[in-house]
Amino acid sequence: MPAAPNAPAPGPAEVAAWARAASDPAAFAAEQQALGRVWTFLCLDAEVAEDGQWFRTDLGGRSVFIQRFGDRLRGFENVCAHRFHPIRRERSGKGAVVCAFHHWRYNAEGQALGIPVCDEAYGCLPKQLGARLKSIEVEAFAGLVFGRFPHPGGESLADFLGDAAPILAALCPPGQAFTRFCAEVPANWKFLTHVTLDDYHIVAVHPSTFGANGYLKAKDVTYARFGRHSAYTTEPGDDPVAGVLADCRAGTYRARDYFIMNLFPTFGASQFHTITLLGRAYYSVMVLRYAPLAHDRSRLEAWLIDGPIAPPRPGLLGVFDRFAQKVVARIVPFYARRVLAEDNAVCEGQQTVARQITEDQRLSPAFETRIGWFEETYAAELAAARQPLAPQPPM
Ligand code: FES
Ligand SMILES: [Fe+2]
Repeated sequence: MPAAPNAPAPGPAEVAAWARAASDPAAFAAEQQALGRVWTFLCLDAEVAEDGQWFRTDLGGRSVFIQRFGDRLRGFENVCAHRFHPIRRERSGKGAVVCAFHHWRYNAEGQALGIPVCDEAYGCLPKQLGARLKSIEVEAFAGLVFGRFPHPGGESLADFLGDAAPILAALCPPGQAFTRFCAEVPANWKFLTHVTLDDYHIVAVHPSTFGANGYLKAKDVTYARFGRHSAYTTEPGDDPVAGVLADCRAGTYRARDYFIMNLFPTFGASQFHTITLLGRAYYSVMVLRYAPLAHDRSRLEAWLIDGPIAPPRPGLLGVFDRFAQKVVARIVPFYARRVLAEDNAVCEGQQTVARQITEDQRLSPAFETRIGWFEETYAAELAAARQPLAPQPPM
């Protein structure tokens, strides 16, 4: 008997809502349009600290760049207003905003005010052309730069961060030394984000790095929800996250154990113990973002920031600490890349069957709670973006 033909793959409408943007380019575009309104971590403030420094990244599915002009940070879509060449091609740099195609030059407001032979080319002054880059909103907090597409009436960054703010200020203080690395991953950003919220996969996916001690005991892990965001810690106590928050607010926080802060949609800051030498424990913080590039492609961006999150010690001990921290900073990226590559491989696998996801995930309440919280926020943000704007009062 001839074999029965395989059932056709589900159409886009049959794919579960949470996974639709991982299999359908149109759904991905709509999702990114909605999420571009949400404050999104873009880079470290230290990467745009000097006048003229810029950093190119992606926001809401569009190429953007952030640039410092004196004491102001500005952000723009990375598309020239003349004939739409990207202004920035490298990841980062320093210099005036000049398009390489015909040398149009833009000021800090994004206006094209330096246009070669403008009178001859257009018969007017540059200002009269009124050409400008599209702006994005940018704001720095605790050494981190966030951005979003213009969102009149949208919440402030402080409101968006809420109680996550003092924790970020403790984990990511400005001025720490850091290293950055990035890689493109052929997987949707949500699969990659989910794995950062998943404490169930460690034994199966990271046996040689994290898994030797077996599964975490649910009683040893505490999850907390901060508005759209969430946190994880293995610190002991009845309400260890509240304790961390109180210490961070008081400026007395000291690293003691794992602590992870995830901001919706794509930011994670993990503080982890690296080594103990001469009675001093050293910690690192890894800041992670999965920039969505397409429904099936993302760019992993990772920053490893030096710890320890403790007061500097005087004298020779302080010299030893700085030396030890440099050694730690050289070793940690090797392990971080290995762990991230293991996560990426799993997500690449999920991507290959994304069109066949027709159900909700069977999330473990003990180990995958934060994925559920993330999905609730995700659904709410997409629903909010579909609401018509409230009518403006008459002028
Ligand atoms: S496209 Fe940028 S100057 Fe012409
Ligand atoms: Fe992992």
